[in-house]
Amino acid sequence: MKAPSPQPRVVRVAVEPPYSVHVGAGLVGVVAQREEGWSRAFVLTDANVERLFGDIARGWPNGTIHAVPAGEDSKSFSTLERVLDALVAAGCDRRSGLIAFGGGVVGDLGGLAAGLFHRGIPYVQVPTTLLAMVDSSVGGKTAVNLAGGKNLAGLFHQPVEVYADTRFLATLPDDEYRSGLGEVVKTAVIDGPLFGRLSALQPGIARRDPDVLAEIVESCVTAKARIVARDPFEKGDRKLLNLGHTFAHAIEHAAGFGRVPHGIAVAVGLGLAAESGRIAGLGVDPGFVESLRALLRDLDVPADLDALRRRYSVSLPADALVAAMARDKKSRTGVPLYVVPFGPGAVVRDVELPESAVRAAIELAARS
Ligand SMILES: NC(=O)c1ccc[n+]([C@@H]2O[C@H](COP(=O)([O-])OP(=O)(O)OC[C@H]3O[C@@H](n4cnc5c(N)ncnc54)[C@H](O)[C@@H]3O)[C@@H](O)[C@H]2O)c1
Ligand SMILES: [Zn+2]
Repeated sequence: MKAPSPQPRVVRVAVEPPYSVHVGAGLVGVVAQREEGWSRAFVLTDANVERLFGDIARGWPNGTIHAVPAGEDSKSFSTLERVLDALVAAGCDRRSGLIAFGGGVVGDLGGLAAGLFHRGIPYVQVPTTLLAMVDSSVGGKTAVNLAGGKNLAGLFHQPVEVYADTRFLATLPDDEYRSGLGEVVKTAVIDGPLFGRLSALQPGIARRDPDVLAEIVESCVTAKARIVARDPFEKGDRKLLNLGHTFAHAIEHAAGFGRVPHGIAVAVGLGLAAESGRIAGLGVDPGFVESLRALLRDLDVPADLDALRRRYSVSLPADALVAAMARDKKSRTGVPLYVVPFGPGAVVRDVELPESAVRAAIELAARS
């Protein structure tokens, strides 16, 4: 990996204690030479990332590498137990630290293992997927899945540092890249100014230009950090980050988990949330719904339910989607609550949308 850009971008996350997210092209090769002052460094990764970047992972000073199988199935209690046992076997103690070197699966699993081992050791996030760089590596939510659902067992445990190196993204499979772009667009809608810039950055995004991606990751992390600092434990405004997710979870559930990449379901969910708000007469700008879909098409991300159905050969009947939505988060009175985008930078949480508007948005998309 080449030398880092002269000035890695640094975003502070103002939680207690605060930490920095370093963003740049080529910085991890250099960071991995650094001693953290830990008794040992335990580098957790997955089999794909080890195959691609094992030289960096194995080169960590005073480090031991442990690779779990790639994929969501590794976010399990049994894998967590194996990781904790491996920490002991590697001679780690309360003065050791963990490096979560991989995508969101490794980040969530590693963060939880670090939070539990000796009641909490420090950890560093080194995200290698776009989704992990713009979303999961920042904010301290860690978890594994249970048979009854995703992320049901976890802790808030903030990393001590995050290094997002956009050079890693060159090898990411196309669908994983598009999935990350879905979360980028979500964050851009919440942020506002970034939404306006993304179209102009499209050529650099298409060729995965590491400097363009560093600019985007920095903007997304800045937006997320601002919200996390306001609400570290997701009692209020952090729910804004769930924009598009009620629809996305319904799509993922109705398609069968694993068929549609999460961030792509989120991208389609953004349009559905906006469309539902427009149909409900809440004052969503119709031009915004159009520009959102145009941006997604520019980025080669499915922009509506029909494009999604074609790309992934899934049927996603409206009834199944509406039924799946009803299982999501509810208000105290039993009405599902939504995050609704009224326009770029104008996103409102805890909005009660009538089921008729949600159904109409889903059916409208099916006819488009
Ligand atoms: N903690 C949070 O706040 C938060 C937020 C969003 C998502 N998540 C979690 O993140 C997980 C999804 O993360 P993800 O999308 O990064 O998935 P992932 O970690 O499974 O990575 C996707 C695939 O890409 C491979 N990969 C990783 N880096 C690569 C690279 N540079 N080149 C080639 N292949 C590479 C992985 O081996 C894997 O096969 C989910 O479990 C989700 O619940 C957590
Ligand atoms: Zn998401």
